[in-house]
Amino acid sequence: MMKSQIEYIRSKTDFVPEIAVVLGSGLGELADKTDIKAIIDYSEIEGLAVSTAPTHKGRFVFAEIEGKKVVFMQGRVHLYEGYSPKQIANPIRLMRLLGADKLILTNAAGGINKNFSPGDFMLLSDHISCFVDSPLIGENDDSLGTRFPDMSGAYDKEMQKIAKRAAFENNIKLQSGVYAQLKGPQFETPAEIKMLSLMGADAVGMSTVVETIAANHCGFRVCALSLITNFACGICDKQLSGEEIVETANRVSGQFEKLIKEIIKAI
Ligand code: HPA
Repeated sequence: MMKSQIEYIRSKTDFVPEIAVVLGSGLGELADKTDIKAIIDYSEIEGLAVSTAPTHKGRFVFAEIEGKKVVFMQGRVHLYEGYSPKQIANPIRLMRLLGADKLILTNAAGGINKNFSPGDFMLLSDHISCFVDSPLIGENDDSLGTRFPDMSGAYDKEMQKIAKRAAFENNIKLQSGVYAQLKGPQFETPAEIKMLSLMGADAVGMSTVVETIAANHCGFRVCALSLITNFACGICDKQLSGEEIVETANRVSGQFEKLIKEIIKAI
């Protein structure tokens, strides 16, 4: 399947990206502000899952930005849309096969750490994956990666340094912490957030971890950033809503885009 998908993409563009970027909820516009060389909708590529989440456009954008060749996923796919971890891994693997070897993942997340406020940015130092199935379950494709990949450096140390330096030099506050992925689509209960907090999670969301696992397996160096859109359930009394998430994302997306751009520049 992936071979024919790559053939299709190659019939449309010979663009060879160095960096891949996944743009999460409310963050998709960065791809529109680049020197676009080609666009391919996920729906054009046979067998590829299409985005159904609000604000996710669902297409690859091949572009130059800050002098770098970048493939953007403008919108991702999630487990809660009914897709399997393997389907979520599919576009990540395609971007690796197209030539990218550095991956920047972004997401919207709920803040569990009491020092975080909505509108903060968090660099992922690590993740908790035990609530979601691995995309690597099933027969291993040895041409992609090893059966039992190491996850001690799931978020590349050098990329973390670059991100922290880019934030510091541009006066952008950047928190750091552990992200837990749950399947959703319902938000967590207060008891679940308390559990995640006791486990050491600083933020919670419905994406990214599956992608990070697949990306490490196929040889990407990964950097991931959360936009903290809300206090996680029970951290404050407020009820959660998808609208609040989009509102916060919209409020600080300009600053978040700037951070991503500076990281791309510094890589
Ligand atoms: N929980 C899960 N996913 C999220 C949240 C949250 O509080 N905020 C943004 N995505």
